[in-house]
Amino acid sequence: MLDLPLNRRDALKSVVAAGLPAWFGAELLAAEEPPKKAEDKPKIALIGCGGMGRGDANNAKRFGTIVAVCDVDSSRVAQASKQFDGAKTYSDFRKLLDAEKDVAVVINGTPDHWHTLVNLAALKAGKDVYSEKPLTLTIDEGKRVVAAVKQHKRVLQTGSQQRSDARFRLACEIVRNGRLGKLATVTTVLPQGLNAGPFKPAPVPKELDWDTWQGPTVETEYVPERCHFSFRYWSEYSGGTLTDWGAHHNDIALWGIGSESGPESVEGKLLLKPVAGGYTAPAAYEATFTYANGVVHKCISTTANTVTGGAAKGKPGEMPHGVKFEGADGWLFVTRGKIEASKPEILNDKFGEKDVRLPVSNDHMGNFFDSVKSRKAPICNAEVGHRSASVCHLAGIAVQLGRKLKWDPAKEEFVGDKEANALVAREQRKKWSYETI
Ligand SMILES: NC(=O)c1ccc[n+]([C@@H]2O[C@H](COP(=O)([O-])OP(=O)(O)OC[C@H]3O[C@@H](n4cnc5c(N)ncnc54)[C@H](O)[C@@H]3O)[C@@H](O)[C@H]2O)c1
Repeated sequence: MLDLPLNRRDALKSVVAAGLPAWFGAELLAAEEPPKKAEDKPKIALIGCGGMGRGDANNAKRFGTIVAVCDVDSSRVAQASKQFDGAKTYSDFRKLLDAEKDVAVVINGTPDHWHTLVNLAALKAGKDVYSEKPLTLTIDEGKRVVAAVKQHKRVLQTGSQQRSDARFRLACEIVRNGRLGKLATVTTVLPQGLNAGPFKPAPVPKELDWDTWQGPTVETEYVPERCHFSFRYWSEYSGGTLTDWGAHHNDIALWGIGSESGPESVEGKLLLKPVAGGYTAPAAYEATFTYANGVVHKCISTTANTVTGGAAKGKPGEMPHGVKFEGADGWLFVTRGKIEASKPEILNDKFGEKDVRLPVSNDHMGNFFDSVKSRKAPICNAEVGHRSASVCHLAGIAVQLGRKLKWDPAKEEFVGDKEANALVAREQRKKWSYETI
């Protein structure tokens, strides 16, 4: 769970103290508006009460009141209700959306395979949505979510919170302003996934509605490792670390490259064979994208994983997870808590008036609630969340097929490739499909 700050200015001060160039830190603090008063507190519902959902809801409490919580695990919903002052409990999000007419905002902390159906239902019910990342499980889902946000005139923020971290914005502004010279290569390094198994089926815990937990995915016996938290290592429910971490670092790659509609080709390779009867999502992989502006983007896994709290280190000399931009005149590496460059002037020279500046958000949840009020798009709106997730899904499809694929980012389809285009969407169980929400 993220340890999120309660006060924007204090949060910014700590960021500035932690190694941002002095000129950029001063600019950040000078531009920060005083915190807004807590008037018009919207009512909020949390759907998916795991670690992240409860963390998000706790963060959102600065701007509204959590009045309802929903989970298919009765012990988790009870825990959430206790945490949020007796919020009303639900086990079916459709009933919550139906009954809680006064709820203006939904926080979606469900596992990835549930994001889209919950988001579509919430948007249809007239709610604004803070949805966890990756926004989608498939490219097709993203198109539907983008369309629904437009159709219902709602605000949706994707939980790719690195767009609200000053270090990542500074990195992208430096790249966009040509401080590295012509951008040639971007490398996103993601933590490796888990490659373990086989796992055994077990009796379904009495507090869990396993059938509903599986939602639109293929029905299987209950295996504890498939469920809470470790769902992210199964391709049935997630894209593995390619989407779990790709939704952070590939999102920043797109922001820096400035080609947010996506690449024109992708090639992928699986580097570790999954264990039979074990996790199914790619654990170690490499993918290479090319963009219309000539940039080559490599997305690779490190041998380190962050499952043990981010402390695990890769092999000596290996790049840690993060984003490296390389241009004709230098390089820049950015990750959580760190930004470094090949030459000091890349970081230390102030931007001029004519330089490109990117939209500013220093508080991801705050930026969402600002949008709820202003009705302007938040920093990581549905289109951004969809395009960033799409890049990760493209890599997943290329890794699965093990060959080079041509992608048309405007049409959002593979060029002349039936096999690849069949992987843009997934079949859903009749019980839980677009038609049932
Ligand atoms: N932004 C970040 O940095 C960040 C960090 C961690 C996790 N996440 C994202 O948050 C999401 C949740 O991750 P987590 O680690 O908390 O997972 P988790 O498995 O601990 O929690 C998910 C919860 O959703 C519940 N759920 C499943 N189906 C549901 C349904 N139909 N209705 C209501 N509840 C349902 C589960 O029972 C579970 O309690 C994932 O998409 C993950 O990628 C984001």
